[in-house]
Amino acid sequence: MASNKPAVAAPVAVTSTAHPAALAKSAAEAHAAHHPNNATAQPPAAFTYRYNSGFGNEFATEAEGYPGALPVGQNTPQVCPYGLYAEQLSGTAFTVGRSHNQRSWLYRIRPSVCHKPFEKLPANPRHVRNWSDAECEPTPNQLRWSPFNVPAQKEKVAFHEGLTAICGAGSPEARSGIAIHVYTASADMDKVAMYNSDGDYLIVPQQGALNIRTEMGLLYVAPNEICVIPRGIRFAVRLPEGPVRGYILEVYSGHFELPDLGPIGANGLANPRDFLYPMAAFESDVPNEGASYTVINKYCNQFWAASMDHSPFNVVAWHGNYAPYKYDLSRFNAFNTVTFDHPDPSVFTVLTCKSNSPGTAVADFVVFPPRWAVGQGTFRPPYAHRNAMSEYMGLIKGAYEAKAEGFVPGGGSLHSIMTPHGPDAPTFQTASNVDLAPVRVADGTMAFMFESCFMMTVGKWALEESKKVQNDYYTHWQGLKAHFDVNNKEGDKKKLKF
Ligand SMILES: [Fe+2]
Repeated sequence: MASNKPAVAAPVAVTSTAHPAALAKSAAEAHAAHHPNNATAQPPAAFTYRYNSGFGNEFATEAEGYPGALPVGQNTPQVCPYGLYAEQLSGTAFTVGRSHNQRSWLYRIRPSVCHKPFEKLPANPRHVRNWSDAECEPTPNQLRWSPFNVPAQKEKVAFHEGLTAICGAGSPEARSGIAIHVYTASADMDKVAMYNSDGDYLIVPQQGALNIRTEMGLLYVAPNEICVIPRGIRFAVRLPEGPVRGYILEVYSGHFELPDLGPIGANGLANPRDFLYPMAAFESDVPNEGASYTVINKYCNQFWAASMDHSPFNVVAWHGNYAPYKYDLSRFNAFNTVTFDHPDPSVFTVLTCKSNSPGTAVADFVVFPPRWAVGQGTFRPPYAHRNAMSEYMGLIKGAYEAKAEGFVPGGGSLHSIMTPHGPDAPTFQTASNVDLAPVRVADGTMAFMFESCFMMTVGKWALEESKKVQNDYYTHWQGLKAHFDVNNKEGDKKKLKF
């Protein structure tokens, strides 16, 4: 059985022969050289982060110091190398077609079934059990939130305790729908792990980096990066830079994938090679027997807790294509007009979770990165709009080009299905008069959108009790007065009177 190589050929872009430390260093150097102004924040030295790359690849990885931990040529030998347990984690039904089938095989010190019974945790007013509850308000009004408060360090709020449901639709029971959350936290998840049975989490840090230990290994995710923790994968979040805040898009069905590129061609937008997956790393400093760990499970939007006497992060090796991953948004290769008129924002889609209706997403994750604006004879900001989809926007940093004020980092906005929105009055005035020389747009800024086909309701805490809804939001459009002028048939900007 002894073998120094994984049985499954390692098909990943990062070479499998170099020393892992060298890999980490060379990847960081390569990134810094390619993006001198956007170098990924350097993770703390206390943890070693090792990644393979390539969206959706079939990975094979063993923890450092445990060569041959992956069985050769089969998944479940009578006795696994090092006496490990084999366990399959299915991300799709067994029978899903090969192009979309997702599963991984985990080789662990004890199987994940070794825990005491789950007990339901008390209800949290910031959570939403059912988006159809009377307490959840469907509203056609434009909504905008000021940033939620980040707890002080002494409050000791861990990631799983600081989850706040903003809006959503559908239900995990039906495996149909989405939820949008904001997280705020000030303490590490210490001997606590969490997993979400309801769907995949797409996490967008806005303030503070996250050190995320997962069953598959470690991820370091800084603001301007994102990560996806697929359904069922256990994880624990530590806060290497102190208190944090960010956004989460949760999908109750399917998984995220890269959007088709159509006429763009084979390259562009988020390129597959820039998605990083953790190499196997287990929690070797926690006893396999006698430790006290709590596992939190979100199941049908209720939180449960179970204890176990060992670390759930005990996977020594794994192979497969179902795993968490991260992506640096500064790697996004944006496409835009070089002639005239603002394209639809779908051109900025990073990841999509498809619905069964062709071309319609359960949810898209869209970013508005730094870029050039060169369109001529055109109104350059996003256009006035009513949409068949719901649009939730957030801001990681900077100032969004279509909103002169009020939309600040850590805040959010929701423009529901057929709710009008668009540039506010100051932005319209500026963009109608500006000299159309090529200019940089959004330098130092990263706004994003969660766009969904679902008609969402808003949680009571987010809408009322948070006291963060900006009640004057609608007034930002009231200054858009009529410029209709029979003497300005040619559309001369000099004839506009502001
Ligand atoms: Fe829109």
